[in-house]
Amino acid sequence: MQMKCWYPAECEQQFQRLQTRLAELNVQLTGQLVEKINARFLRLNPEMALVLDEDGLSLSANGMKMQPDWRAEIPRLKRASLKSEMLARACQLGEKPSLIDATAGLGHDSLLMAYLGANVRLIERHPILFVLLEYTKAQAEQDAFLQAHMSRIQLIHADSNSYLNELAQQSEYVDVVYLDPMFPQRDQNHQAQKKQAQVKKQMQLLHMLLPEDGEMDLGDQLLHLAQKIAKRVIVKRPRHAVYLAEQTPDHQWLGDACRFDAYFPKGQI
Ligand SMILES: C[S@@+](CC[C@H](N)C(=O)[O-])C[C@H]1O[C@@H](n2cnc3c(N)ncnc32)[C@H](O)[C@@H]1O
Repeated sequence: MQMKCWYPAECEQQFQRLQTRLAELNVQLTGQLVEKINARFLRLNPEMALVLDEDGLSLSANGMKMQPDWRAEIPRLKRASLKSEMLARACQLGEKPSLIDATAGLGHDSLLMAYLGANVRLIERHPILFVLLEYTKAQAEQDAFLQAHMSRIQLIHADSNSYLNELAQQSEYVDVVYLDPMFPQRDQNHQAQKKQAQVKKQMQLLHMLLPEDGEMDLGDQLLHLAQKIAKRVIVKRPRHAVYLAEQTPDHQWLGDACRFDAYFPKGQI
């Protein structure tokens, strides 16, 4: 895979480190020094690229820029509680579970789950999203509010199909596997309209990075694998979406825009 990165001269060292890290993940990163990376520059350069600037590391395309911005989540975390968060009830976060988020993405759900007490392994297979996560976690480790929770977050670059399969082979069990696979954009437009602008932008860029005819894993197989190793599997879906793997859940929590479907093991775990 190849990717371009725009950066100003003062980010040269960060660029070198990023290039080395991405080479380890089989991504060839070419850099381009840019005097000023502003909204106009991004509009005039609509192709997909990484951006290193005073905001840190971001992904940009079509004039938009996005990053897994965990610091922007702090107000939400401060409001969150085990009772108020549907995600917390679905994953029983009060029991401080061992949890695998097999579709990490921007890590926002995992951040909330770790903040509320879970020990979370985030699995992300896309190398660009993975370095964005690594960068964000490193920043969060320097943040006075977030740093206390970072020891409960572990990032793993892997395909969850292989990762969960290996755990199953080794009879290694966890309390919860959480799945939030991509969902075809055409089927969720009416959901997206309700979302705030920043979330829409993040979704659009994710869909550009993971095209439906190429990199997108709709996650049906992940449900079967997760059920082999977890005491509960929680699947996040747009509220009106079809069931994952066409499997009727054992329980549901319904929100305005999304829902959580729960699957409990049928046999011994
Ligand atoms: C909708 S996003 C998840 C968003 C996430 N819940 C959040 O809060 O930011 C789905 C992510 O799962 C990743 N993914 C899909 N299938 C995967 C697999 N088999 N292994 C690892 N990651 C996968 C995609 O690359 C994408 O980043």
